[in-house]
Amino acid sequence: MSNRILDPCCGSRMFWADKKHPDVIFGDNRELDTTLCDGRRLEIAPDVLMDFRKIPYQDEFFRLVVFDPPHMKSLGKNSWMAKKYGCLNKDTWEEDLRKGFSECFRVLEKNGILIFKWNESDIPLKEILKLSEYKKLFGHPSGKRMNTHWVTFMKCSSNLKTMEVKNEK
Ligand SMILES: C[S@@+](CC[C@H](N)C(=O)[O-])C[C@H]1O[C@@H](n2cnc3c(N)ncnc32)[C@H](O)[C@@H]1O
Repeated sequence: MSNRILDPCCGSRMFWADKKHPDVIFGDNRELDTTLCDGRRLEIAPDVLMDFRKIPYQDEFFRLVVFDPPHMKSLGKNSWMAKKYGCLNKDTWEEDLRKGFSECFRVLEKNGILIFKWNESDIPLKEILKLSEYKKLFGHPSGKRMNTHWVTFMKCSSNLKTMEVKNEK
């Protein structure tokens, strides 16, 4: 079993306790060093430039993947939110996130864990969970009033959605 961890869209690594953890590969599809309107510096400096739709690692390379993609599809390009969190493509976001899930699971080892973070301000979590080939293992109970969700998946056959469920999408 490896101790390799992937964060394929790390942004400025805000949620990491150790932003330089030696076991983590920090990826993102952009590099940025700028000052936000409130004067704070925003630095996005991935170890590896990557696209979560085509992750440049072999199958089953990681033990843990944490996937925190952009969650807004209607942001001004130059808004501070877009600078900080990136923005979904309003025409292709479903396919992009479907590929993102698929790639995260591909690079996860068998029985590996995927932690998924989602903010529902633009799109409800239940719409996003339809894009994953694996079932949610656990997360906040639905119906609770909260915007940000942390969802845990485990890559094992008992959590794979059946073909029947897939066809309902
Ligand atoms: C919600 S932010 C991540 C915030 C991060 N977890 C933190 O703690 O700071 C989403 C990030 O995904 C990146 N991103 C957007 N599209 C991407 C893609 N196709 N591949 C990789 N990263 C992407 C954005 O550049 C942005 O930095």
